[in-house]
Parts: sequence; structure tokens; C-alpha cells
Amino acid sequence: MPLLEITDMTVSYGRIEAIRDVSITVETGELVTLIGANGAGKTTTMRAVSGVRPLARGRIVFDGQDVTRMKPHLRVAAGIIQAPEGRGVFAGMTVMENLEMGCFARPFASKAEHDETVERVFTFFPRLLERRTQLGGTMSGGEQQMLAIGRALMARPRVLLLDEPSMGLAPMIIQQIFRIISEINAQGTTVLLVEQNAQQALSRSDRAYVLETGSVVRTGEGKALLADPAIKEAYLGVG
Ligand SMILES: Nc1ncnc2c1ncn2[C@@H]1O[C@H](COP(=O)(O)OP(=O)(O)OP(=O)(O)O)[C@@H](O)[C@H]1O
Ligand SMILES: [Mg+2]
Repeated sequence: MPLLEITDMTVSYGRIEAIRDVSITVETGELVTLIGANGAGKTTTMRAVSGVRPLARGRIVFDGQDVTRMKPHLRVAAGIIQAPEGRGVFAGMTVMENLEMGCFARPFASKAEHDETVERVFTFFPRLLERRTQLGGTMSGGEQQMLAIGRALMARPRVLLLDEPSMGLAPMIIQQIFRIISEINAQGTTVLLVEQNAQQALSRSDRAYVLETGSVVRTGEGKALLADPAIKEAYLGVG
């Protein structure tokens, strides 16, 4: 049984269907990527999974439970944790305060568990430890992305939803962010990733889905899609 199973999902904004009959599965432990051009419906898909956008049709099952109509905060409590597009760092709060916000909707059972998780976040992102008293809004773009992912980790995701973590970052930082995402996944966190950086994302994904104008047009292993001539031409700027 997949950890996350989206079946024939349609999501509309008013009368416009942003995505239509999208089906996606994510198995426990997988890193699955959604690639697609601007406006393809990637963010809409993520928003539907986290519950901030209702479905017009279709079904979302998480860990055997139908969550299609479940409120967003209850999905967070169940372990569906999103680091949103655009990062959403609280500018007026320190790095440490931002991290603490991450576990607000999913409190720790003990102080020890809290401290262990903070430790784990700082191991992934030593920069956040160095800057723990700095205001979020004064962090660089790359640092804010680290903070957004770190904050999501504070909620101990059972599935981590990442919407374009590489957006607007320099190539070296992009490499670093992708390496850390791979490491988070390797340590056991299931990840559903949205990316336009197809090269990096596909080379690190177990599987991927290609979204075009609101529909899934291709799916397969990340590396197989990376070698596919049509994908190369459309998403990798070669061919
Ligand atoms: N709040 C909204 N109201 C109306 N239409 C919307 C809204 N949000 C998104 N859309 C439309 O839905 C479609 C899918 O948008 P979405 O943001 O999911 O795309 P995306 O794949 O994430 O694109 P990008 O790569 O630019 O982030 C687009 O045509 C967009 O204009
Ligand atoms: Mg988007």
C-alpha cells in the first residue's frame, strides 16, 4: 500500500481546471518528483495534498486513511508537512523561533525528542546553528530555503512536500540543497518534490511524474526520464 495515493484528482480555481484527473502515488521511503513548466499545476497539486486547496473531484489517501476532506492542520498532525513555494520564513522572528514554529501543530512528546530533532536539523544545516539568533528576514535566499526545510523537519514529516526549493538560488547552493534533500530522504523521510531543475531532481529521484497543462503526461524512474529524448528536449534544454 502506498504511503500517499492521489487518484483522479481535479482542482479548479473558479471555472478553470488547474489540474485534471491527476493520479500520483508515493511509496514509503521514496523520493518522488513532479516536474513541469510554469503553470503546469505543480503548486496546485501540492496545495491539494496539504489541504489548503479543495478537490473538485478525486481522492487522496494517506497511510490508508482517506484525507480528501481533512482540514490542513489535521493533515499536519498526521505528518503531511509542506515547505511552501516561496519559503514563507517569518521575517521578524529569529532562526530559532522560526524552527520552533515548525512543531507548533505537531508538538513533541518530550523535551528530549525536541532537542534531538533540533540537533538533527543543525546537522543537516550547520549554517542555521551559526545564525540561530539572526532574524529570518535578514537571511540570504539560500539560508531562508534551509530554514524553510529545517522548519518542516521540526514537524517530523512522514511525507515532506517541497515546492521548488531551488528557485532563485545560485548553482552552488542548489547543489547543496539537493544533496541535503537526498540525505534527508536517505535517512528515511519520504519526499514529494516539485522542481523545474529537472537535471538535479530527476537524477536524485526514485520516480518522477511530468505534468503538462494540468495532466500527468509521463511517469517513470528518475534516471530513465533523464535519458528520455523528449524529456531532454522539453526540460533539459538539449536534444
Ligand atoms: N489562486 C489562483 N486563482 C486562479 N488561478 C490560479 C490560482 N493559482 C494558480 N492558478 C492557475 O492554475 C494553474 C496552475 O498553477 P500552479 O501554480 O499550480 O502552477 P505551477 O506548476 O506551480 O507553476 P510555477 O512553476 O510557475 O510555480 C495556472 O494556470 C495558474 O494561473
Ligand atoms: Mg509553483
